[in-house]
Amino acid sequence: MASISLRNVVKRYGHGPKANQVVHGVSAEITDGEFVVIVGPSGCGKSTLLRMVAGLEEITGGEIAISGRVVNDTEPSERDIAMVFQNYALYPHMTVFDNMAYGLKIAKVPLAEIKQRVDKAAGILELAPYLQRKPRELSGGQRQRVAMGRAIVRQPQVFLFDEPLSNLDAKLRAQTRLEIQKLHADLGVTSLFVTHDQVEAMTLAQRMIVMNAGRIEQIGTPDAVYHHPATTFVASFIGSPPMNLIHGQADGSRFTAGGQTLALPTAAPRAGALILGLRPEHTDLNQNGAAGWPLKVEALEMLGAERLVYGRLGETLFTVRVDATLVPPKVGGTVSLQATPEHLHWFDPTTQHRI
Ligand SMILES: Nc1ncnc2c1ncn2[C@@H]1O[C@H](COP(=O)(O)OP(=O)(O)O)[C@@H](O)[C@H]1O
Ligand SMILES: [Mg+2]
Repeated sequence: MASISLRNVVKRYGHGPKANQVVHGVSAEITDGEFVVIVGPSGCGKSTLLRMVAGLEEITGGEIAISGRVVNDTEPSERDIAMVFQNYALYPHMTVFDNMAYGLKIAKVPLAEIKQRVDKAAGILELAPYLQRKPRELSGGQRQRVAMGRAIVRQPQVFLFDEPLSNLDAKLRAQTRLEIQKLHADLGVTSLFVTHDQVEAMTLAQRMIVMNAGRIEQIGTPDAVYHHPATTFVASFIGSPPMNLIHGQADGSRFTAGGQTLALPTAAPRAGALILGLRPEHTDLNQNGAAGWPLKVEALEMLGAERLVYGRLGETLFTVRVDATLVPPKVGGTVSLQATPEHLHWFDPTTQHRI
């Protein structure tokens, strides 16, 4: 089994004045058997980081260690890692069995053992009935499972996944997420999974690493990241719709924002310029004239179980998520909002860090 240590890892592409630094000193510890998801917007350096762990990309600075052994100069084939990509490129002329067996044949594993390992992986992935088919005779989801099978049969110390579900439709993605969870529960192999999709990250991760522009914004469990976002970036990237962020001036339990003074349910952490964060589901919406913050309703969206209410607090855009069985407010009307003290998040407008 394996742990992974990233110590101040830096990546620059190119040299001299034209060099482009894309990873700026990333440090993280992934413990043995853990499933960690790296999540962040497209272009933030996720694939680059994963490829450096795999050894497919050179490290410009810092150190990567696997189970305590620094692997900066270790060949990919010596790292005991298997990687699953978005574009899983199966050999079209080979059967499912041969696709899964190929790497083992190259490694000269005895045939009886190859058969045993492929059969076991096919059992886990429910591919046993398809072993003699060619990839073109499979659905997209089945092909993705063959790609995972190819990784499993190698019995690696570490699985690396780079957006393996991106080519699947929404339903299949949800199903494959569950399969990956089950796979990890069964095999317990240390896994690093990269995605730009925050739902995928929240549902799969034991811990997540939220990245932005080549830097780590926060590392934590999905619960911790959702309920205690470390920065405004995390607050708006994790959760959909994003956390409402209101820029204003605090003075005791008064907060002035967008030309509107809001009474707070508890005093602000300090006076002066602050950003107040409130999740859409953490605000009560009253239509019966109760006291609260006046929200002018601009639009509604019915999502099935819930309804999104878009409006303005003074000039600030604000989203509320309500139970769809409640009578919807009228567009153009004004409702009143209330929040409880434990649901207020505060950020420093200069550093964008949580206070
Ligand atoms: N081979 C390369 N040469 C130069 N720049 C690259 C190369 N690969 C990636 N980049 C740049 O590095 C940044 C991070 O890319 P990448 O790790 O692929 O992001 P992500 O996987 O998060 O979408 C991007 O700005 C990308 O353009
Ligand atoms: Mg990528």
